[in-house]
Amino acid sequence: MKGVILAGGLGTRLQPLTKITNKHLLPVYDKPMILYSIETLKQSGVEEIMLVCGREHAGHFMNFLGSGQDYGIKLSYALQDKNDGGIADALRYTEDFSEGENLAVILGDNIFSNSFRTEVKEFTGGATVFFKQVDEPARFGVPVFNKAKTKVVRIEEKPKKPKSPFAQVGFYIYDNNVFRIIRKLKPSGRGELEITDVNNHYIKNGGLHFSFISGKWYDAGTIDNLLAASVDLARQAKKNVSRLK
Ligand code: G1P
Repeated sequence: MKGVILAGGLGTRLQPLTKITNKHLLPVYDKPMILYSIETLKQSGVEEIMLVCGREHAGHFMNFLGSGQDYGIKLSYALQDKNDGGIADALRYTEDFSEGENLAVILGDNIFSNSFRTEVKEFTGGATVFFKQVDEPARFGVPVFNKAKTKVVRIEEKPKKPKSPFAQVGFYIYDNNVFRIIRKLKPSGRGELEITDVNNHYIKNGGLHFSFISGKWYDAGTIDNLLAASVDLARQAKKNVSRLK
């Protein structure tokens, strides 16, 4: 399966840091944020990757990552014209790259301790999304379940009153119908093409699968979360070292 890293957006919530470089190149503990998503894709068995970013600081990505060879991947790039077009708009640019196949998609500011190897391997079509219980679901896409909790009825983007304590995390697996769905989307209230609307289309067609992740998950899109992710990852790393001693 091919992979996509979505690294667009203006990084407004991380200003003034994002005046210097792209959000996804800022440090998280001991490395630039983007390397975590590359690692997650690699650990999930995905090594042919396209990175989509906006025009601002696009050259920084190429300088740093090059062909991807240093990181054991084959990397190509796409530029998103509208840097505030949204996640689903950014994904649109990978249609030719996908060559009609399935795609593993990761948001460049999401950091995972687990891989998605099994789900990537066992994917047979439709879409697969992942949920994690969080303290503040209102900041995310939130699933609404049926009474038996066996099905997702819909996903609500940043709801004022979340109907479950779960967040949709930034890793998705799609079949190639995703591009047909994106073409039908209309911009949301915040003027973006939402990944949540894509997933709701799959729910309507009966093609959405879901799974819960048990590992750690960070969305490093705000100053506080960026710091929390760094501190936590530093602690984990030190714990692992002392375990090895
Ligand atoms: C995006 C998605 C949201 C998801 C989140 C995960 O939010 O729209 O559904 O829960 O990523 O990080 P955004 O980062 O655009 O606020």
